Amino acid sequence: MVMKGTPITEELFDYIVDTFAREDDLLRTMPAEAHRRGVPMIHISPEQGKFLQVLMNAAGVRKALEIGSLFGYSTIWMARALPADGKLISLEVNPLHVQLTSENVKRAGLAEQVEVRQGKALDLLASLDAEAPFDLAFLDAVKDEYVAYLDQVLRLVRPGGLIIGDNASANGEVWQSAPSGNGSYIRALRAFNHRMATDPRLTSLLVPISDGMCVGVVKRG
Ligand SMILES: C[S@@+](CC[C@H](N)C(=O)[O-])C[C@H]1O[C@@H](n2cnc3c(N)ncnc32)[C@H](O)[C@@H]1O
Repeated sequence: MVMKGTPITEELFDYIVDTFAREDDLLRTMPAEAHRRGVPMIHISPEQGKFLQVLMNAAGVRKALEIGSLFGYSTIWMARALPADGKLISLEVNPLHVQLTSENVKRAGLAEQVEVRQGKALDLLASLDAEAPFDLAFLDAVKDEYVAYLDQVLRLVRPGGLIIGDNASANGEVWQSAPSGNGSYIRALRAFNHRMATDPRLTSLLVPISDGMCVGVVKRG
């Protein structure tokens, strides 16, 4: 098969980020502060943040769910795409990450729209039915649990809504039969992608942005 499209060079990447996905001072300084407090640098990239905003506006997202807050970087990109009366619930197990996300959300002036809930995602997801339907679920916590998250959010996200999983390329190794990286990590993402691609309730595609975002739309009717 011949690869189609323009390869992403560093110059093209810089152009895209500079033109469409510039961070403001808060987004630019948040990672260094989180790093100083011992948090790993595993947040999404600016163009992924902007991509989430584009998708949210296209789907008319008013109520969103995030699984894995870290220090609130993706949380803030997403919350900024909500209407004033919108809501984002972000699920996070690590108390320090909950605290940092809450602090950053407050600094962003988004405390009214964002609620950070502490606990294991699978426990919290099981009790979210009363707050459904959601317009979007962004999965970005334990990769081994992605398929289980998907089972839960398929119940919680409305028809026409979005289900998005980050790191769907597994560091570019998702397609390899004998990958050099962490085998169980790659197997988990492959299983997730397979479900996203084949579940009859979804129209999905792995979009090769950063480490890959698998985007699914819940079919209407
Ligand atoms: C990749 S980071 C999230 C990055 C964030 N979405 C961003 O792009 O800014 C994954 C997060 O999931 C959290 N996490 C790990 N296991 C979890 C679980 N069982 N339930 C909820 N959160 C979990 C980790 O503590 C970490 O903060």
